[in-house]
Amino acid sequence: MSSSTITGNVDLTENDNVTNLPLMSGSVGPAVVDVRKLYAQTGHFTYDPGFTSTASCESAITYIDGDQGVLMHRGYKIEDLAEKSDFMEVCYLLLKGELPNTAEKNKFTHDITYHTMLHEQLIQFFKGFRRDAHPMAIMVGVVGALSAFYHDSTDIHDPKQRMIASYRLIAKMPTIAAMAYKYSVGQPFIYPSNDLSYAENFLHMTFSVPAENYKLSPTISRAMDRIFILHADHEQNASTSTVRLAGSSGANPFACIAAGIACLWGPAHGGANEAVLNMLHEIGSVDRVQEFIAKAKDKDDPFRLMGFGHRVYKNYDPRAKVMQKACHEVLDELGIKDEPMLKLAMELEKIALEDPYFKEKKLFPNVDFYSGIILQALGFPTSMFTVLFALARTVGWVAQWNEMMEDPSQKIGRPRQLYTGYDHRDYVDLDKR
Ligand code: CMC
Repeated sequence: MSSSTITGNVDLTENDNVTNLPLMSGSVGPAVVDVRKLYAQTGHFTYDPGFTSTASCESAITYIDGDQGVLMHRGYKIEDLAEKSDFMEVCYLLLKGELPNTAEKNKFTHDITYHTMLHEQLIQFFKGFRRDAHPMAIMVGVVGALSAFYHDSTDIHDPKQRMIASYRLIAKMPTIAAMAYKYSVGQPFIYPSNDLSYAENFLHMTFSVPAENYKLSPTISRAMDRIFILHADHEQNASTSTVRLAGSSGANPFACIAAGIACLWGPAHGGANEAVLNMLHEIGSVDRVQEFIAKAKDKDDPFRLMGFGHRVYKNYDPRAKVMQKACHEVLDELGIKDEPMLKLAMELEKIALEDPYFKEKKLFPNVDFYSGIILQALGFPTSMFTVLFALARTVGWVAQWNEMMEDPSQKIGRPRQLYTGYDHRDYVDLDKR
């Protein structure tokens, strides 16, 4: 992949002073104004809370065209990957830049599979949590603790160690996630089984019990795999930016991914899939949809339609379309006809898409809108939904972290601010206050 080029410049005029700023172009997408020397040249910072107009890095992994509703990983459309590929292949693609050939795929799958077990001592960590702990709390703690167990892969300056840490994270995340679930329901942990695929293994570890193996259905395993593909990466979103920011200080990869998990937890990000289902339960029936649409539109009401809207997509989130299709397939396979939550979601979507408020603000269903319904049908409790997002996003996080570590222009991330506090004040002694 080629890197960016300077394709023009923009002038910034302040009184009679003109500052010339380079315009940089990537392969596709908007050009960016390079403001790196702005402070040195003008004494000014830029102001962009929420980074709505800021490119934080160069990246060759994922491209989103939010207006057109396009998402591509390494140039491949998400719809094609979801339809024709599988999660192991997508992991390889994100990490290494190309789709693997058969030998490469077999080796990669083998290598990931042989890292799925956890250090036995790590299992004690789960037991330190209350049974009613949110599984995301467990994920943040246990993934952070990995850095205390795998010292041989925390030298961030060694590319080989970086790759081993990446494989370990991708491989161990399903085991940690399944154990977080098992712990919360008071069942014994189920160890990974190397003859199963990545998605099958996760379902097995989550739903098998010592007395009875979980019956794996190809449709369900495929749906699980597809859900993982749809969540694998999404450019410089909040959690990925958190991983990059944590990594920019030289922190080890396990600590960085734990930081990403913490960020993902929030309801505006990965926590939205859990929030969607809670919202659907709160709405309860189709005849209350209008009432909730009105609440979402009311400026004085903090309620938002969860699973709707996106910082980047101003069109249908392409992942939501695939998810909706997968949702129907799963419910058919499970023989769940007339699932009330699906009916409710579809009605809510229909009404919102026709409503001038949602049309004007370009608010469309996002990936989280249908995922909760599938995950519930598969038997996951709502508290596990964001955990599954974290599991699948791990490959994106490590791919982006590796890319950053290899980037010669990488520096510690250190934003500035627009200070609005007091100017200098003289200290007042305690007896005079
Ligand atoms: N329901 C009602 N109004 C909304 C919604 C919504 N879901 N989303 C945005 N708006 C309105 C918002 O009130 C604002 O109106 P106004 O311009 O009059 O102030 C306008 O649309 C723009 O919203 P914003 O909050 O400035 O946009 P943002 O880019 O900062 O926020 C978002 C994006 C995803 C946080 C937001 O749309 C939201 O809170 N959605 C619900 C939560 C959700 O589904 N999150 C999952 C995102 S996709 C998965 C992921 O990436 O993690």
